[in-house]
This record gives sequence, structure tokens and C-alpha cells, in this order.
Amino acid sequence: MDKRKKVESMDEEIQLEEAEKQEYHKPEPDLEAIFTGSQALKKAPKIYGVSTGIEGLDDLFFIVTSENGKIVKKTLGGIPAYSVMNITGVSDTGKSLMVEQFTVHQASKGNKVAFITVESPANFVVASLKLRASAMGLNFDDFQDNIILIDAASSTKIRENVPDLLATLAYVIQQYKVKFTVIDSVTGLFENKEMMARAIVRRLFNFMKKWYQTALFVSQKRSGHEELTAEAAGGYAVGHIVDGTMVLAKELIDSPFKAKMYKKEIGDIVRLFRIDGCRMSGHDTKTHFLEITETGLVKIKQPIGG
Ligand SMILES: Nc1ncnc2c1ncn2[C@@H]1O[C@H](COP(=O)(O)OP(=O)(O)OP(=O)(O)O)[C@@H](O)[C@H]1O
Ligand SMILES: [Mg+2]
Repeated sequence: MDKRKKVESMDEEIQLEEAEKQEYHKPEPDLEAIFTGSQALKKAPKIYGVSTGIEGLDDLFFIVTSENGKIVKKTLGGIPAYSVMNITGVSDTGKSLMVEQFTVHQASKGNKVAFITVESPANFVVASLKLRASAMGLNFDDFQDNIILIDAASSTKIRENVPDLLATLAYVIQQYKVKFTVIDSVTGLFENKEMMARAIVRRLFNFMKKWYQTALFVSQKRSGHEELTAEAAGGYAVGHIVDGTMVLAKELIDSPFKAKMYKKEIGDIVRLFRIDGCRMSGHDTKTHFLEITETGLVKIKQPIGG
């Protein structure tokens, strides 16, 4: 063997040794990740509807079952239990109002709701929740402690560190027996690190599943994205991770064409709503008008075009 070849093969040997040293993990099967169909079914939750308190929304979800050999479509009367739904739209489309309404509605029924606020500090959110309650004709004092606020807007520690946030949420879920989790917004959790959007949302999603939460994640859209699509800021893939997406939009009537289409006057604003996919149940696929009342309540109205 000439000198050069010898040196090369020695190099290779050293590299191999290094690689072996680094290979601290020998591939092995993860037996806990394997289930037969029946084993998996035992752990499958029964799907039912969770009412939202948002007029016009609950009947847009349905399941199809077979009864005496006949296929029947039944409304769920809410979003599917144990689903993680993404609510997306540009600024001022009613996302926060919607999740606040949901929170108040469920809390008023005696259920515990964890509300992770990322943009607005807890004292502001609670004031808003109280307004939502009175607009809904409910007395906030009767159920205020069914809502557990986690203030990630004020705590940098939990806003910038997902494991800390999830440890806080796990504590809250256990301590208060929480069934519903709201995050307003997940976008705030990956500010300045939009590359991480997918990984963060995936982690949040897996956590919600592990703890059997029915969850609403708000995500913000940049106005550059097409209005009624599910493409959320930085989270092009958020929609692929979660179980379903609801898209909120607003449009300025700035042409006779739009005025005719929406039966509105030029200069008006129309608000629109659409369910962009739901993995866990059937759903309405039309684009609907959305209304925000003067008292700040979101209502889903008739489909555009009747
Ligand atoms: N009483 C009210 N209280 C609050 N908002 C109201 C009320 N009445 C009407 N609105 C409308 O609702 C909009 C607020 O919607 P919301 O705060 O839910 O927006 P958002 O989609 O969460 O926006 P962002 O992405 O900026 O957080 C306001 O811009 C306003 O036009
Ligand atoms: Mg908001």
C-alpha cells in the first residue's frame, strides 16, 4: 500500500470510529406506537358536538351514520369534541370575538375553559369576556371562575418557551379539570421565528390530543394571502396539522360587480365565513355572510348567493 492510500484508509478508520462513538442510539422498534385496529378503537373517543354559543355555526357540522342500512346525515350541534380547530383571518375579522364567545358559552354551562392569551394581557381579556357575557344575556359573575386565563402576553417565559407554556397548561388542566382550551393566538407564539411555526403548532396539537382537549387556535393571516384561504401567517402548514380550519374575511364593496354579487352598496364592508375542511366530521362547504353585532357578537348568516 502506498503512503497516500495508507493515510486515507487510516482517516476512514478514524471517521468510522468517531461515527460509532456518536451512534449512541441503535435503531429499535417503538412497541408503544403499534396498535391493532381493535386496540386503537378502545382508545377512540366518541364524537359528539360541542356547542359554541355562536349563532348559526353549530349546525354546519354533521356526521353520517348508517341506520338500518340507510345512510343518514345528522347535525352535530357544534364542533366535533376533541377536535383542534384553527380560526384564521386578517386583523379585525372577529376571531377574538368568536373564541371569547365560545369561552363564555362553555363556562356558563359549568365547563372549565383554559384561555391562553398571547396578544392581550389577562386583565384586558377578562374585561372583554365580561362584555361578551352581558351581550349574550349572561351574568359573568356566576361563572367567571370557570375560565382560567394563562397570561402569555405578560410572561415572556411562557410566550417564548413552548415546553414551559405546556407545563403551565398541563398544571391548569389537572388542577381545574379543564376540557376546553383556547389560544389567542398561536401566531404570537412564533413571532420572529416563523420557520418554527409548524413545529410549534404540531407540539401544541399533540398536547391537546394527549389531554383530550377540544381546542380553538386563533391564527393570523397576513393581508397578502388570499382572503378566504386557510393560509395563515408563517403557518402555511397550520391547516394540515390541525383537524379543521374556519376562515374569516372582510371585503370592501368597491365595484358594481361586488355590489351586485353581495347585494350591498358600494363602500359597504361584507364579512365572510367559511369552514375550510374538518377532518373529524362532515361540514358545510359554502361561504356564509358573517355579522358582528353592535355589542360585539359574531353570527354566521346565510350562504352568499342564497
Ligand atoms: N362591541 C364590540 N366590541 C368589540 N368589537 C366590536 C364590537 N362591535 C363591533 N366590533 C367589531 O369587531 C372587530 C373586532 O374583532 P376581533 O377583535 O375579534 O378581531 P380579530 O380578528 O381578533 O383581529 P386581530 O387579528 O387584530 O386580533 C372590531 O374591529 C369591530 O369592527
Ligand atoms: Mg384578535
